[in-house]
Amino acid sequence: MRKYYCMNPIAQVGLDNFSKNYIKTDEITEAEGILVRSASMHDMELPDGLLAVARAGAGVNNIPLEKCAEKGIVVFNTPGANANGVKELVIAGMLLASRDVVSGINWVKENQEDENIAKDAEKAKKKFAGTEVMGKRLGIIGLGAIGVKVANVARHLGMEVLGYDPYVSVDAAWKLSRDVRHVLDVNEIYEQCDYITIHVPLMDSTKNMISAEAISRMKDGVILLNFARDLLVDEEAVLDGITAGKIRRYVSDFPNPVTAGKPGCIVIPHLGASTEESEENCAVMAVRQLQEYLENGNILHS
Ligand code: MLT
Repeated sequence: MRKYYCMNPIAQVGLDNFSKNYIKTDEITEAEGILVRSASMHDMELPDGLLAVARAGAGVNNIPLEKCAEKGIVVFNTPGANANGVKELVIAGMLLASRDVVSGINWVKENQEDENIAKDAEKAKKKFAGTEVMGKRLGIIGLGAIGVKVANVARHLGMEVLGYDPYVSVDAAWKLSRDVRHVLDVNEIYEQCDYITIHVPLMDSTKNMISAEAISRMKDGVILLNFARDLLVDEEAVLDGITAGKIRRYVSDFPNPVTAGKPGCIVIPHLGASTEESEENCAVMAVRQLQEYLENGNILHS
């Protein structure tokens, strides 16, 4: 049997000829294939003889891509495998942010011992009145597997959807056009949308793309969602935007000391792809990619 190391226990689901080694990056001294979820491989010594790395997820910013390229190590990711899980949480985040559910939950917690809680709730609920998403405009930056799924549900919720993605071909944009009005300038998203959600990879060109300048172009009261990567957003600028009333709510899947727990911020601990279904889909796809490459030299894309 070949030596694979698995850094994602879920990947062991039903895979007979996959050695059941769950190991930390700094414990790996030899391996032909490595499967990794979120652990960073940037500081690890890549073992001699390593042929392939599979990332059980879409983003590859925890993989040292240049080092791998120099050594001829093939890197796989699993685009689309967790898109449904992320999509569902983006939609939930949008609804939570619109309806002030979080303040309502906190109010109930604070008053749980009050025997008149039901009566008091009738008075308190005025403070937590929200808005509906139907008829509002959603801007999606990045029309990959997740962005497109979000667009589809948003349309069914009665939203108008604008999409921006410099890498989408005219052909692909045409296919998307039932759900998305494709714009060629990201400023159209900033200037016209009531909700903005980002679904782009973290690269030099996208780092801090949600900057103070971008925020200043947005509509007053915008709801901003980040389920893609932490460093895409200038968190200080977001906090300033909330204080100034420019941003109504910020929903983020990436805890950061600047915005975590702050008024107007709904921050959760990177839960987008954490569903049983998404974890299994990613793991199975990643293992198949590794096995097919190492056993037969084939590159699988899905
Ligand atoms: C992804 O890039 O798809 C996610 O970060 C997956 C994960 O949560 O592991």
